[in-house]
Amino acid sequence: MIKVAPSILSADFAHLANEVRRIEDAGAEYVHIDVMDGTFVPNITLGSPVVKSLRPCSNAVFDVHLMIEHPETQLVAFAEAGADIITFHIEAVRHAHRLVQEIKTLGCKAGIALNPATPLVMLEELLGDIDMVLIMTVNPGFSGQKFIPSMLEKIALLRHTIEENDFSLKIEVDGGINEETASLVREAGADILVAGSAIYGANNIENAIRKIRG
Ligand code: DX5
Ligand code: ZN
Repeated sequence: MIKVAPSILSADFAHLANEVRRIEDAGAEYVHIDVMDGTFVPNITLGSPVVKSLRPCSNAVFDVHLMIEHPETQLVAFAEAGADIITFHIEAVRHAHRLVQEIKTLGCKAGIALNPATPLVMLEELLGDIDMVLIMTVNPGFSGQKFIPSMLEKIALLRHTIEENDFSLKIEVDGGINEETASLVREAGADILVAGSAIYGANNIENAIRKIRG
């Protein structure tokens, strides 16, 4: 069963609580929360206080995507704010295994994200320990970018590795997802589809979510 994770990066930040309710009412299971620090990626978005304020407004899974340097300094804050899944970038850390352990100890699910240029092999020793791999299909930092088709191979390779080894982790895909690219990534083996502009930019959000789910 494919899950849809609308990214609030494309929402109206002046009305975030309503924007989160809107996607939940329209059938989304996850709320994808893009945290950017202006260093790991050029943009700055929001921090744990915003997540804490949104938590009482929603029962959806809070899927926090940390696009920040030193994610180890923020794990407690985001867990206490109500994150369900905390995903950090492998490119931003030295001790990925330690972070995975810490996230789990805090009672959250642990995900690791890969930039388009980062090969799957970087996670080889960790696949048995993590709950999710986030495969970026654009370079992180902005919504509304074009899907990078060569990432389909990475998704398919991860799907194959999961089946071969009987791993229980989920594949999340993020960047440039719309009706067309959603069908490609579903076919390649993705479980959770993130979409920002294709959902919040749609006239009918319910329809947009349904089409991405396929
Ligand atoms: C990009 C973010 C994405 C972004 C996706 O750096 O991680 O979650 O919001 O936006 P779209 O779906 O518009 O590419
Ligand atoms: Zn994201």
